[in-house]
Amino acid sequence: MKKILIMHGPNLNLLGEREPGVYGSDSFESINNEIIAHGMEHGMHCEVFQSNHEGELIDELHIARKKYDGVILNAGAYTHYSYAIRDAIAAIKIPVIEVHLSNIHARDEFRSKSVIAPVCRGQIAGFGKYSYLAALDAMSYILSADREDGDGQ
Ligand code: DQA
Repeated sequence: MKKILIMHGPNLNLLGEREPGVYGSDSFESINNEIIAHGMEHGMHCEVFQSNHEGELIDELHIARKKYDGVILNAGAYTHYSYAIRDAIAAIKIPVIEVHLSNIHARDEFRSKSVIAPVCRGQIAGFGKYSYLAALDAMSYILSADREDGDGQ
């Protein structure tokens, strides 16, 4: 069974109470439960990691490279300026899919820039919690497509 790490960056632990008009009113815990259940439907085992600290997210990406087949990452505000997280993604070979609940391209100007996008396999944004579920669908697809290609990326 493929193992997928779901990584949430800063302030995402407050989902449900944080700006519900933007991020929805489902709690962090219930969203994670839906993600885990959706992963199971695809035959993927999902584990969840959340941190408000840049270095901890980087450490976890390093750990993930040997422990998981792929990462689904919502880096929160770090998306827009963390070259250190970008470098960590570039350093590992497993696919990382960038996710956002909100449409980052339709909000404040500073949010429309993602410094991690060029080193991620793709970006899904704007569908609330379904962004994570769509990312799992995409992860299932690319892991099987990569296997067929035999490139292991
Ligand atoms: C976010 C968008 C970011 O701009 C913001 O800083 C977040 C959440 C999203 O999921 O829509 O913390 O990544």
